[in-house]
Amino acid sequence: MKKLVVAIDGPAGAGKSTIAKLVAEKLGYAYIDTGAMYRSVAWKFLQTGADFDGDFISGLAEKMLIEFKPEAKVNRVFVDGVEVTTAIRSQEVTANVSRVAAIGAVREAMVAQQRRMGEAGGVLMDGRDIGTVVFPQADVKVFLTASVEERALRRYKELVAKGEDVKLEVLQQEIANRDKQDSERAISPLRQAEDALYLDTSAMTIEEVTTYLMQLVQEKENVFL
Ligand code: DC
Repeated sequence: MKKLVVAIDGPAGAGKSTIAKLVAEKLGYAYIDTGAMYRSVAWKFLQTGADFDGDFISGLAEKMLIEFKPEAKVNRVFVDGVEVTTAIRSQEVTANVSRVAAIGAVREAMVAQQRRMGEAGGVLMDGRDIGTVVFPQADVKVFLTASVEERALRRYKELVAKGEDVKLEVLQQEIANRDKQDSERAISPLRQAEDALYLDTSAMTIEEVTTYLMQLVQEKENVFL
């Protein structure tokens, strides 16, 4: 059976990584979280303590080795051999990553790595520009989204379950800001590929979305039999 390239794009908090990880596990595909790659660059830059400078950050991005080691519950991420799985989810990294991801040469370095990781197929990649820029010829393309209110609510429940003290309105505002930054940047903005399937998950459970996507990929695999 042909192993496909599956591109999943969409805004922050739409559940892309949760869904992509589950679908990849069930299909025996590799899962590449490209947001984690941009977060890794932002993390590396913050570690240096240097002032924001596009050339300096691109230099870091070009030399970095980013690796994924998937485990049952987490997709572990390593930068030059150092585990950054938790560190790249910090508030500081989240607050800086959009600016880092808007640097052209950083994107070129990441896209080159992503193409290498996916060229053999059997890969499910999630991000903002996978179906439009990284793999415009992907076998399956999905644009996964949900309303701002629903995405904020999901994040709110996640954080409250971890014992964090957060306000729903603040999360809504943060998500709306990130949508704006990601969709309005000059290079590779977040947008749906014309041939991507649009899926609004506001009223769907994780299981429903997972089953739906698995069927979609399996149907396409059968076309190549
Ligand atoms: O999906 P995430 O929240 O982990 O993504 C982190 C940031 O990286 C977010 O600001 C969008 C950016 N990103 C991007 O520009 N292109 C991608 N393919 C994936 C993420």
